[in-house]
Amino acid sequence: MTDKRCMRILLGVTGGIAAYKSPDLVRRLRERGAEVQVVMTEGARQFVTPLTFQAVSGREVRDSLWDAGAEAAMGHIELARWADVVLVAPATAEFIAKLAQGRADDLLATLCVATASPVSIAPAMNQQMWANPATQSNVATLRGRGITVLGPGSGDQACGETGEGRMLEPAELAASVLDSLSGSRPLAGCRVVVTAGPTRERIDPVRFISNRSSGKMGYAVAQAAREAGAEVVLVSGPVSLPTPAGVTRIDVESARQMHDAVHAALAGADIYIGAAAIADYEPASVAEDKIKKYSDTMTLELIRAPDILASVAALPARPFVVGFAAETRDVEQNARSKLENKRLDMIAANRVGDGIAFDQDENSLLLLWSGGREELATCGKLELARKLVGRIAELRAGTTRAKADNVVRVRR
Ligand code: PMT
Repeated sequence: MTDKRCMRILLGVTGGIAAYKSPDLVRRLRERGAEVQVVMTEGARQFVTPLTFQAVSGREVRDSLWDAGAEAAMGHIELARWADVVLVAPATAEFIAKLAQGRADDLLATLCVATASPVSIAPAMNQQMWANPATQSNVATLRGRGITVLGPGSGDQACGETGEGRMLEPAELAASVLDSLSGSRPLAGCRVVVTAGPTRERIDPVRFISNRSSGKMGYAVAQAAREAGAEVVLVSGPVSLPTPAGVTRIDVESARQMHDAVHAALAGADIYIGAAAIADYEPASVAEDKIKKYSDTMTLELIRAPDILASVAALPARPFVVGFAAETRDVEQNARSKLENKRLDMIAANRVGDGIAFDQDENSLLLLWSGGREELATCGKLELARKLVGRIAELRAGTTRAKADNVVRVRR
């Protein structure tokens, strides 16, 4: 298992006097192990130089949508995906208004619109501006959209007045952002590879062997893992589903292609979840031309397709490996054999058959792991996937702790 990667914070700095505290905020976030990418608005540059932020963050500051060099290194959409959370501190009244309107006329506003990650703002302004009904209405709009509003605090202001509108102190902001990330987003900082859908094994240019998987279960798992804060790569067989927001999707057709795509995506992965219905056998050879019907019967020679799940579990530095088991009978017994034979960390078993699991909107799962089991009753696949991902995060945390304990014991 790889080490958990750092939390990635995209810190937006807008043009208010409280921007002088933002370099300290970068320092506090980094002290707690986060990686910080600073994005400044033009107004922010009037208060603090980009060089200051570059020095404390260790990364070049981004401030323009139109910087071809920076865009070539990490485009704004990539940057929006990179972040586990976007924190705007300080957030001026002007920026809050812009965010409430959903405008995207500079890099920071664009990133706030383009990200699928949570956005937090730390307002900072004169107390009268904060109390203004327009500001209050904008803040309420943002709260209604799920944006977290941190503060503001109350006290003496730079303009000589006293009241609400002070940006919270850097240490307090760093703690609330990072603590909420690790609590409500138990997979923040993790990279998860999920497979979904069927595979197609070519017989000739127009025929293939496949199955009834719609991809709904695997796509729901990918969405739930993303909601839990993970960076998610979804390796998908041919399905007609939209890609969940914030998820990177790689399309494949055959089991071999899926095998290669999974192994390419596994670098740095913490968790692998195999929800795809992958062919166990593939034709020994693929006819170049459409096969003609010369006789009453025909025999198709099949050979074993690569077992992707087993190959992932056999890696020397393997991620936490979760398989699915699709069974028409003896569900628990068959699934436990797969768990043990393939040395998986967990298996999610479902009964399949006529009108069950495959291509349905609902499903139920029996989760099995070494020394444990849990039944997840029938419900929508997304709800089910959220419960599955929650259990995976808990088990993995336990395993990670156990492994860390082992390392400590061995070193002593
Ligand atoms: O896609 P839906 O319509 O939403 O349906 C969901 C589902 C029923 C397909 C899903 O819930 C499910 O059960 N997926 C696994 C299907 C399957 O192939 O099960 P299995 O028992 O045959 O395989 C066991 C495990 O080995 C699976 O994790 C599978 O991905 C993996 N495997 C199988 C064959 C192979 N060549 N390589 C593999 O990695």
